[in-house]
Amino acid sequence: MNFKNEVVELLAPQVDLPKEKIAALIERPKNEKMGDYAFPAFALAKTMHKNPAEIAKEIASQLSSADFAGIQAVGPYVNFAINHEKLINQTLTEVLAEKEHYGDQKLGEGNVPIDMSSPNIAKPMSMGHLRSTVIGNSISETLKKVGYTPIKINFLGDYGTQFGKLIAAYKHWGVEEDVKKDPIMNLFKYYVKFHKEAEEHPELDEEGRAWFKKLEDGDPEAVKLWQWFREVSLTDFKRIYKELGVTFDSYKGEAFFNDKMQPVIDELREKGILHESRGAQVVDMGEDENPAMIIKSDGTSVYLTRDLAAAIYRMKTYNFVKMLYVVGNEQAQHFVELKGVLKKMGYNWADTINHVPFGLITQNGKKLSTRKGNVVFLDQVLKDAVSLAQKQIENKNPDLANKKQVAHDVGVGAVIFHDLKNDRTDNFDFNLDEVVRFEGETGPYVQYTNARAQSVLRKAAKLNQAPDLTNLNLSDDWSFSVAKALADFPRIIARSSEKFEPSIIAKYALDLAKKFNKYYANIKILTNDEQINARLALVEATSIVLTESLRLLGVNAPKEM
Ligand code: ARG
Repeated sequence: MNFKNEVVELLAPQVDLPKEKIAALIERPKNEKMGDYAFPAFALAKTMHKNPAEIAKEIASQLSSADFAGIQAVGPYVNFAINHEKLINQTLTEVLAEKEHYGDQKLGEGNVPIDMSSPNIAKPMSMGHLRSTVIGNSISETLKKVGYTPIKINFLGDYGTQFGKLIAAYKHWGVEEDVKKDPIMNLFKYYVKFHKEAEEHPELDEEGRAWFKKLEDGDPEAVKLWQWFREVSLTDFKRIYKELGVTFDSYKGEAFFNDKMQPVIDELREKGILHESRGAQVVDMGEDENPAMIIKSDGTSVYLTRDLAAAIYRMKTYNFVKMLYVVGNEQAQHFVELKGVLKKMGYNWADTINHVPFGLITQNGKKLSTRKGNVVFLDQVLKDAVSLAQKQIENKNPDLANKKQVAHDVGVGAVIFHDLKNDRTDNFDFNLDEVVRFEGETGPYVQYTNARAQSVLRKAAKLNQAPDLTNLNLSDDWSFSVAKALADFPRIIARSSEKFEPSIIAKYALDLAKKFNKYYANIKILTNDEQINARLALVEATSIVLTESLRLLGVNAPKEM
């Protein structure tokens, strides 16, 4: 049941405006006591030649509906107050009938590749890659809920001149056993050392370039090392993905497109959009823009070239309706160029490409930089979060079954939720203590709230009581505020999916949890009276929606904690 639509339907015969226009004009009164919806009569003043307050009065006097407890003019507004019982009844009935499918809707269909995570091999996965992973994953779940078929693609950074350097570094300082033991840590160590040493011994850079050339030419030793680095890195990354509960549909990284670039370059040339500029091959991007580099003066391809080949390949493979790139804001220009070049090639589907950027994570106010070795090791972050969760559980609920699993869900959930609760484009400073805080606006707070609801249901079962909809006459304000939030859920999903913005769901989950906790503090749920089953229905509906909200964020909801 959609009360806003109901308001539109009621108003439509009374006002000389199309329904969409009416819907767009409807507001939420600032003060909830004044009603739940307000229609501003200013919009009619011109055509009706009356003052808005008079118009509001006139309209209000003609309307009545059982769905609304009151419809009245307040100044220049027609205010609608929802019939509380009706909203509570309708909403709980819907949630309990649809369960985890509550909020499912059809806003679109078709394949949507989501380019996400995409870390670089032989380097630790950065906080930026973590953000891309969890944001991409949540967008994927949300798009699925509204009808699309998301395809999660990990565009691994597994090719480029840096691998020449890494091979050179390994040849100088590498120890096979060390790499086998802790691949990323050690490969990364060699890489950092290489950069340091190269400052004083520039001939190292020359060596790096030579090894890259060998790699490109298929030299067996170079290829073997590169493959080995890729393999051990991937194993490490997959461990982190497993912790996070994120899977991918494709791991086709940059290297996969090595042999798919030449046809793109030929096509650019045939279409006459490739120009020579100081020895390099570029595409002009318009008067005020720098040209987009396609081939460097030394003949090697660049990141953009690989992305062009990948985009065209994905269109052929998936025939997508839109494609998303969940990549940090600092690469915005790259995606402008990618879309721009595709458009110049005549590919109008480039318009369906969305760069979904996110803000920068700093530490102590400083930018994190892999090259300088100033990194956060995600493995460690997740481990620390889980062990902090474990401690909390030992304190609060030492007899809990599945302690390990719950600690994992809570610790990892804290990290994910922390990452998703702010608008994705906000920058934030990374502070582990902050991330694993369990009170306030955190994932564990939402999880605790859900576990509390589940605990009430368990206690009720022991009293032989269960949620039931037959006697749904709840009329207190606390129930209403929870039910109203539950009724909002489908709209929240729609908005989050349109804006590719998981924080809308995270903020919603916090709000619903807060409202439920107020309800819990003020209402004796398990009192044995004729409304006990209705109250349990509200508890169950809340748990369903909290669990589903967390699922859409990629966070598990333990039933007990
Ligand atoms: N590997 C890149 C990096 O770490 C991110 C790749 C993003 N995806 C893409 N299709 N360009 O910066």
